[in-house]
Amino acid sequence: MPLLTMKQIMADSVKLATTDVDPKERYAVGAFNFSTIPEMVGIVEGAREKNAPVILMASLGAIKYIGSLELIAETAKGIAKTYPEVPFCLHLDHATDMEQIKQAVVAGFTNVMIDASKEDFEINIARSKEIADFAHNHSPYGINGCSVEAELGMLAGHEDNIHVEESGKAYTDPSLVKEFVERTGIDALAVAIGTAHGFYKAAPEIKFDLLEEIRKQTDVALVLHGGTGVPEDDFRKCVAMGMSKINVGTGLKKVYTDAVREAIKTLPETEYDPRKIVGPGRKAITAEIASKSDLFNCSGKAPAVLRSIYK
Ligand code: G3H
Ligand code: ZN
Repeated sequence: MPLLTMKQIMADSVKLATTDVDPKERYAVGAFNFSTIPEMVGIVEGAREKNAPVILMASLGAIKYIGSLELIAETAKGIAKTYPEVPFCLHLDHATDMEQIKQAVVAGFTNVMIDASKEDFEINIARSKEIADFAHNHSPYGINGCSVEAELGMLAGHEDNIHVEESGKAYTDPSLVKEFVERTGIDALAVAIGTAHGFYKAAPEIKFDLLEEIRKQTDVALVLHGGTGVPEDDFRKCVAMGMSKINVGTGLKKVYTDAVREAIKTLPETEYDPRKIVGPGRKAITAEIASKSDLFNCSGKAPAVLRSIYK
């Protein structure tokens, strides 16, 4: 199966989110930040275990560390060949540099996020529209071979090159959502409803009334950023209320690192096989993706995703 776009991956979830179904039927696709190539494989293996769709997210830090957009895009292509049963897409996360985003489209990313959330409304619209027009027309996979996520409102916290103080955060204004989506032509909207990037000092206060209002304004996929540390019941409520993508980054780094630390502690000092040292990190990631797939009600949804694309 070729790499899918994020729009394709989420079409079934969006349909359930925007029609009058039993909220228990709704689900969100898990989106996970990776830092290294083996983690990309670990994430896809977790989705395979649960027969779930999944979204691989490359942060700017990961691109710098791994080496290039092309290396990541080609790896994703290889993974798609190796795991044809897993519907997944490759997403560029929180990008601000217009040229870099276009380069990612051309390299073969199947979703890009333009994050102009710090800019004023008109600039955010102009940049998001420029990327949507470009991505929909310049993917090596053909017209609409790459979809686009943009953000309205601003989350507090730290995410690579983006830092927003608690005092600088801004909830998504529902009265701007319809205009933003229509004028930009984006496929998914990241919303600020009370979550933050990174570890929380106290449990986040999610504004569910805001989510309800936003969901009424548009039919595009809604994206919850800052998934690390969100209480499980809040995730369930967000999913039931129509969230289609949930991003988890920091928590996954911890899962990986804790497992590697534990391996180093337990193995004899004479153990030099890197697979035994970092392998448990990848395994722990696989288990975490499997468990998040259950939590987001996404387990077993791979066939429904494929049906929605190839019907
Ligand atoms: O875009 C990435 C996510 O929003 C990750 O947030 O690191 O708080 O889980 P997190
Ligand atoms: Zn984010």
